[in-house]
Amino acid sequence: MKVIELKHPLIEHKLTLLRDKKTGTKEFREVIGEISTILCYEAMKDAKLEEKEIETPICKTKGKFLNEEKYAFIPILRAGTGMLDGLIKVMPNAKIGHIGMYRNEETLKPVKYYYKTPKDISKREVIVLDPMLATGGSATDAITMLKKDGVKNLKFLCIIAAPDGIKKVQKEHPDVPIYCAVIDEKLNEHGYIVPGLGDAGDRIFGTK
Ligand code: PRP
Ligand code: URA
Repeated sequence: MKVIELKHPLIEHKLTLLRDKKTGTKEFREVIGEISTILCYEAMKDAKLEEKEIETPICKTKGKFLNEEKYAFIPILRAGTGMLDGLIKVMPNAKIGHIGMYRNEETLKPVKYYYKTPKDISKREVIVLDPMLATGGSATDAITMLKKDGVKNLKFLCIIAAPDGIKKVQKEHPDVPIYCAVIDEKLNEHGYIVPGLGDAGDRIFGTK
């Protein structure tokens, strides 16, 4: 399945703000939201639209519209919630679920602590959100859980993707496209993305 990387000078500019350790929580959070909105536009490029009769101030015409009720956003806690604002700004009627996971610092394996999705999740197109795709453990486990609940149509949105994480998601879930702002070089010995932006959750919530 495909990996879509946003390639745009403004995105590169915004990524520099995110990478810079001097960027504070407020600006960091705002930029994560802005890039997430653009990722949402990109991920919705293949959306099927419906049609209805409307009347402009000039005449009757047919207008296309998106049935937002067919979608659900699932941020992976914590950092994924930082992306959520950017998506609900443009699709405010999508339903929202949450998957709680943290990485064990030694094994780098994800540990699940929360799972709550809309009850008709299997009928929805699901967009999973997490700013960082590092080893890919969190993303693959989250997608596996959603598939067990009957979800067939999934997309994964992140800000920075590492080659290892892309490989893992593509191997375990070849049907799930990955949308990212940038593909970085590698992981370091602690499983952090290089050059990356550090710990996304800590930077969004100001916890370090
Ligand atoms: C970060 C990030 C992803 C995960 C990515 O979460 O937000 O969920 O690591 O790493 P992986 O691809 O190797 O699984 P973290 O465990 O730091 O939790 P947090 O969002 O609560 O800070
Ligand atoms: N999680 C993060 O928040 N940052 C990384 O670089 C890797 C995993």
